[in-house]
Amino acid sequence: MPKRITQDIEPVAGNGLLHRRLFLKRGAAALGAGSLGLMTAARAKELPPWMQAPGRALSGYGSRSRFEGHVQRQPLSAKGTDGAGGSWTPLESLEGMITPNPLHFERHHSGIPDIDPNRHRLLIHGMVKRELFFDMDSLLRYPMVSRTQFIECSGNSYLAGLPAEPVNATCGALHGLVACSEWTGVPLSILLDEAGVDPAAAWILAEGADAAAMSRSVPLAKAMDDALLAIYQNGERLRPDNGYPLRLFLPGYEGNMSVKWLRRIKVAATPAMTRDETAKYSDLRPDGQALLFTFPMEVKSVITSPSPGLELAGPGLYQISGMAWSGLGRIARVEVSADRGATWAEAALSGPVLDKAVTRFRMAWRWDGSPSVIMSRATDETGAAQPAREALIAAKGRKFTYHYNGIQAWRIGSDGQAGNVYA
Ligand code: CO
Repeated sequence: MPKRITQDIEPVAGNGLLHRRLFLKRGAAALGAGSLGLMTAARAKELPPWMQAPGRALSGYGSRSRFEGHVQRQPLSAKGTDGAGGSWTPLESLEGMITPNPLHFERHHSGIPDIDPNRHRLLIHGMVKRELFFDMDSLLRYPMVSRTQFIECSGNSYLAGLPAEPVNATCGALHGLVACSEWTGVPLSILLDEAGVDPAAAWILAEGADAAAMSRSVPLAKAMDDALLAIYQNGERLRPDNGYPLRLFLPGYEGNMSVKWLRRIKVAATPAMTRDETAKYSDLRPDGQALLFTFPMEVKSVITSPSPGLELAGPGLYQISGMAWSGLGRIARVEVSADRGATWAEAALSGPVLDKAVTRFRMAWRWDGSPSVIMSRATDETGAAQPAREALIAAKGRKFTYHYNGIQAWRIGSDGQAGNVYA
């Protein structure tokens, strides 16, 4: 349930948005006191049952509380396929900037391979002076770097704004093909330098070791700039559903290009024109032509709380919380509206605000109990701003399915229920 806030502070925009300083330093102390009135002092002084006997034993690998079992990804298999589909991160149940590994979204094209790391190899070949191949032990000897950055499927958010009528679903079901992790691994540029790239080369082909041999072409410039051969995610080895034992990670680029279970990199002069960069992951324009090779994920934000399924318990002061990210750089600003976009106010950004990472934003809102429409819009450090849904459709038509980043609006009914609305 969204948190209620007790202390009053002056409005900065229509329908009860309050100044972000409520979230800065001492102002934050005002937020916590809300629930104390619900519990009598006598009850609070009783020893709860879990203090009356020792708790359970130690374990070799941790698990979450049994009271949190309802927080689940939402899997959806593609009809008539063997292991193709995705699972959506339950954004509405999470806070902060990091996505826990077991809740990181999935997108597979032919299931999750069960790879023995001792038998996995990475081959680098094509337009190089010498072909190289590595096992995992040899890769682990190279210098590593860590980066906290998001990954987003380019098909994310399509259902939130492109159907003729708004689809009612949770925030995670509409926008949950995005996640943010600390990725650790070997910069690809080190291995390409060692292989000796032909000056006439301009692309690489990256291929996975799944049954689909999922493969994508990547500009050599990106491969040499910040491409990572990721081995660890949030401090532990990658999980099978995120590419164990080795995946490509391309900061800011559409998730499909960060090829999982990476087994081969071929250096080439031209793109390979694979299935997943021609028939799929291309953007159909109003005139019927398809735009190929649209790589960076554009600036986006969404309010995760309140959102569908998180009921407001009546008029009062609430914390609006959401996430913003951009494949082009840092988030510069997030604005929130509680009056269907008539007025906006700047939200507080929770640091650290990192390059191509999810940034958490917060805003205080005094809800008077009347039907309201809340929305957020993000601007990144390049000046790119998240477009209104109508503006995006006017520019790109309705035939595209990838790179939808329109502003998300939630309607809040007088009963406190939230739903998807086109505003
Ligand atoms: Co694209």
